[in-house]
Amino acid sequence: MTTVQDTPAAPVRAVGTGHARVEGREKVTGAARYAADLPFAGLAHGWLVLSTVARGRIRAVETAPVLAMPGVLAVLHHGNAPRLETDFTSIMGQRPDPVLGLFQHDRVPYAGWPVALVVAERPEQAREAAEALAVEYDREPHDVAFSAGRPGTYVPEGPTPIGPAEVVVGDAEAELAASAVVVDADYTTPEEYHSALEPHAAAARWDGDRLDVVDSNQGTQWVAGDLAQLFSLDRASVRVRSEHVGGGFGSKSTRPHLVAAAMAATVLNRPVRVALTRRQTFALCGYRSPTAQRVRLGADPDGRLRVLDHQAQNLTSTEHEFIEASAAPGRTLYRAAAHRTVHRLVRLDVPTPAWMRAPGEAPGSFALESAIDELAEKCGLDPIELRVRNEPEAGPVSGLPFASRNLLACFAEGARRFGWADRDPRPGVRREGRWSLGTGTAAAVFPVVAAPSTAEVTAEADGSFTVRINAVDIGTGARTAIALVAAEALEVAPDRIRMHIADSDLSPAAFAGGSMGTRSWGWAVSAAAGELKERLALGGGIPPEGVTVRSDTTKALGALAQKERDSFGAHFAEAAVDTATGEVRVRRMLGIFAAGRIVNPLTARSQFIGGMTWGISMALHEEAFRDAASGGLVGADLAGYHVAANADVPLIEADWVEDIDPDDPVGIKGIGEIGIVGAAAAIANAVWHATGVRHRHLPIRPDRVL
Ligand code: MOS
Repeated sequence: MTTVQDTPAAPVRAVGTGHARVEGREKVTGAARYAADLPFAGLAHGWLVLSTVARGRIRAVETAPVLAMPGVLAVLHHGNAPRLETDFTSIMGQRPDPVLGLFQHDRVPYAGWPVALVVAERPEQAREAAEALAVEYDREPHDVAFSAGRPGTYVPEGPTPIGPAEVVVGDAEAELAASAVVVDADYTTPEEYHSALEPHAAAARWDGDRLDVVDSNQGTQWVAGDLAQLFSLDRASVRVRSEHVGGGFGSKSTRPHLVAAAMAATVLNRPVRVALTRRQTFALCGYRSPTAQRVRLGADPDGRLRVLDHQAQNLTSTEHEFIEASAAPGRTLYRAAAHRTVHRLVRLDVPTPAWMRAPGEAPGSFALESAIDELAEKCGLDPIELRVRNEPEAGPVSGLPFASRNLLACFAEGARRFGWADRDPRPGVRREGRWSLGTGTAAAVFPVVAAPSTAEVTAEADGSFTVRINAVDIGTGARTAIALVAAEALEVAPDRIRMHIADSDLSPAAFAGGSMGTRSWGWAVSAAAGELKERLALGGGIPPEGVTVRSDTTKALGALAQKERDSFGAHFAEAAVDTATGEVRVRRMLGIFAAGRIVNPLTARSQFIGGMTWGISMALHEEAFRDAASGGLVGADLAGYHVAANADVPLIEADWVEDIDPDDPVGIKGIGEIGIVGAAAAIANAVWHATGVRHRHLPIRPDRVL
């Protein structure tokens, strides 16, 4: 295998040239079928009924009147549902969220907990009956109030899914005492929702003795494994497909609608679909926890950091522990004699939060990169120069060498293109009529990983090639990206490649998350394709069944040298603040990334821009309100929960500097999540520069600006 170090020093090109999505025509003509679109003969429709109380017990479910309604086939609830097995560890290495144990007891731990499923011949009948279903509760007092250090706050002990909750290097208090310049500030971010364009939906049917499911998810193998466990089936008896998925962002894991569809299909012995409304996705599909963060930075007068202390708190449910790794980014970004990061939790009567694009890094980078800007101001240094002075030689906490690190190259290129050199560092000096103008910058970092994956590449007798890999294209263009990786390895035109993805009957591969998809799948596909090319070069012709090569990256990944491996980036934003109304407008944004070798520049740029757009949304708009009295969300839809729309988003440019992972056969790192990391901080820093006022609580609403 040729490694990247062996290649000549000529600039490394992207994998492929800008290539439109191979399924683009299907999508824009409506031919692409999503999980809620697929026709099944004899399909029945399920509608979930969610708890209206935030804590208590179900006293009665009045099924009789509803069963008499037109078309109604069944009402499933805790009194009649088949038993599920919930005591298992999923392939993600964690126990399932207890909400997947659908209708297994009468307890209600939060508002929005699924309490019943009404199944009818038609979706309208199911919905009407579900809305008519009377559920009586014995209410208990609930508590949904999140705040920093409130009673019940704790530091999780032992290993957690994000490693130890507290990491300490050096003596933070001593370094703080010795610091000439100190920033000590509190930041908060609100509850935020994934809001994928396509709401979750699943259809399940029994095909002989196999459970056959179409679902909108980020990993068919993951979901099939969970279903097999829940229903005590052989893994081989479950097939899950998700051919087209309209956005995931971390929310499209195994979710209750899928369990409901499988349960109803089993009970009724006919195909059943359960599609969620937008409102139901707010209750059932996870969210980004609100955070309360404290950042303490201590530095010498020249800006060199002595201590970086980042303490973060998020909420979780009473049912399941979820930790938002908000304090993690500082462990990689800056050198300091002492590093301390702490993650605290508080359990409330709310649904369990979940991964949401750049979980941890997104809210955490807002706090850290705002604090770094505050430190630059206190030291009288340009914020980029401050970062230059704190650039580490190796992982500041891990001590490991960087696989590659081109963060300063991102800042240099970004500063040049943004016109940073002309910036007057003084805040509040640029005016344009009633607008105050300012610019800001922030760093981005996201860890690079890969998951073991298998792939098959077949040379067909007709001269085409078939790639089989259990990837999911959640809207990123993954199908196209992998085809380009295969085409490069085979040295053939991309239009000769046919892709088969998103089917749990394919052999195992990484799920579409953690910014690891393209790297994990690309590794497996390039290995199989490279070997196939060598085999074809030996000649001998292609038999009717084709020539197939299989790959498995498990061993190669196991042998990978331990390094600090991350993608990096630098954001630049210009904000205009209306000093009469408090309105903040982002005028332009530029992101420069060092994120490994780029695959398909067209869709890669879209990924970065999508993340940055979400950064605008996070900085200025997104905020869900949980009502203390009811314990439920207020305005849980896209009218009440504003996501940045076209009018909120200016010209955004995203580009990259050369950066290749020296240990990946294609040079890939990952780009899925880094676009949002630091984006909100760059905007908040621009708002400070425009006004001279720090905004430490997101979103930066007009009422907070005034
Ligand atoms: Mo992502 S939050 O790993 O889908």
